Amino acid sequence: MQQAATREAIAILDFGSQYSQLIARRVREAKVYCELFRWDAPKKRVLALRPSGFILSGGPASVYNDGAPILPDYVLQQGVPVLGICYGMQLLTHTLGGRVAPAGEREYGPAKLIITDPTCPLFTGLVSEPSGSSDRDPSPLVLRPSSLDVWMSHGDRIETLPSGFVALAVTDNSPIAAMGHSQRRIYGLQFHPEVVHTPQGRQIIRNFLFNVCGLHGTWTAGSFIEETVARIRAQVGGGRVVCGLSGGVDSAVTAALVHRAVGDQLTCIFVDTGLLRRDEPQQVVDTFRREQGITLVAVDAAQEFLAALAGVIDPEQKRRIIGEKFVRVFEREARELGQIDFLAQGTIYPDVIESAGRPYAQRIKTHHNVGGLPADMHLKLVEPLRELFKDEVRAVGEALGLPEEIVWRHPFPGPGLAVRIVGEVTPERVRTLQAADAIVLEELRAAGWYRRTAQAFAVLLPVRSVGVMGDGRAYGHVVAVRAVTTDDFMTASWARLPYEVLARISTRIVNEVAGVTRVVYDVSDKPPATIEWE
Ligand code: XMP
Repeated sequence: MQQAATREAIAILDFGSQYSQLIARRVREAKVYCELFRWDAPKKRVLALRPSGFILSGGPASVYNDGAPILPDYVLQQGVPVLGICYGMQLLTHTLGGRVAPAGEREYGPAKLIITDPTCPLFTGLVSEPSGSSDRDPSPLVLRPSSLDVWMSHGDRIETLPSGFVALAVTDNSPIAAMGHSQRRIYGLQFHPEVVHTPQGRQIIRNFLFNVCGLHGTWTAGSFIEETVARIRAQVGGGRVVCGLSGGVDSAVTAALVHRAVGDQLTCIFVDTGLLRRDEPQQVVDTFRREQGITLVAVDAAQEFLAALAGVIDPEQKRRIIGEKFVRVFEREARELGQIDFLAQGTIYPDVIESAGRPYAQRIKTHHNVGGLPADMHLKLVEPLRELFKDEVRAVGEALGLPEEIVWRHPFPGPGLAVRIVGEVTPERVRTLQAADAIVLEELRAAGWYRRTAQAFAVLLPVRSVGVMGDGRAYGHVVAVRAVTTDDFMTASWARLPYEVLARISTRIVNEVAGVTRVVYDVSDKPPATIEWE
């Protein structure tokens, strides 16, 4: 494939740092394609990327411990630039004949970095932060050391440089906080440029990519689309592809890409479980069938799902029932299509990322991406988004011309409203929740808060509460409103929505949704709470 051969790429070797994914994010933000590999990934796989440089992540080990991760030989043999961060730097030092030793004190948290060699290409374009001493320097001709705020997290430090290396920076606790060998283009940083607590860390990573590796940052949504469409065409040939659409951004972008590549060879299946947000099924059909011209089979399976959920209150049982039913309905519809060769699904990079810090996580996504089709259908997978982060998927969706409501839609759980109706799911309770949820989203959009929250929705509680309606007492439902901000959905904060917005949501819900007499706002962070209520 010609594109792959000419594409700029960086290989990141992961030695187990909690920040490894962040390094990948920063490189991608600089529009350079990169992949994260476990440090012991097979050489062939890593080199297939044809990396123009390597970044070695941090990690919890000490280089002199038995069984500590080592630097694979092929890294230095390639003759391309290498940047070692924290453990990565220590590993370079250890491998190249320098000395690493435990620091007197563990250095964790913010530190002041004094750059002793400002001519190093890694430090180009950094803005000097006042270091106190610089004010007293009388000579404008003397190159004054620049001082930077950086984030440290290490126990070991470099005591002796490997041959040919020079020290580039110091901190109070690290006499060699950065080192480099300009001819070999090998650099080491004791601090973490990838975290936000190193405010100019992004620039340092960009400097490595552009000044040291000589890259240009050409990887954009447009180039991704071009490359991916060619790849899908080569993979699919004259075969037929089926894709499960959920209405979410990942499956939508997958379908749009595959459609651009192979047109009518793609058929999408959209299963309306009856557990989606109000008006969403119609919107999915309109967008894909009418606007995108994609062949779409829409299945109204609401009755089937609701019947299967009757009397069930345990959340995990709800999930199991919905997951199994979904696969069965999808399979039935797919078989109706006759000969199908490929299944397209919206797996994204965080789903497949291989990290040294956790076991290999290649898990097929939950039922909306249809993980459980029977083996006898012999479908081969088409997963065009396997290499993208969520924000990159959105950028591709925008470049493909998908509507904003789909590209920027909040994530929605596979089991849908069933896990937002605490207790039994009945058709009436689904309607009540859909009405309340639509008001939450309408008001957030109107107030400009939809894009400022990562997820926002209504939850129907299984308790009744006394209220006053007109002259009488009413014994009505309680709706909880949940809105959170988060980057990764692993932790989340409750959104500080303005009181006026909450007031409008509350007033409208009790006035417009029959049977609801009370609205509460959920002010719990994750952890300890989860984002969903069930
Ligand atoms: P929690 O509630 O665990 O949610 O804090 C984290 C993210 O995962 C979504 N979520 C699910 N997604 N099937 C899904 O496809 C599920 O069963 C499920 N449960 C939670 C949730 O919406 C949030 O984005």
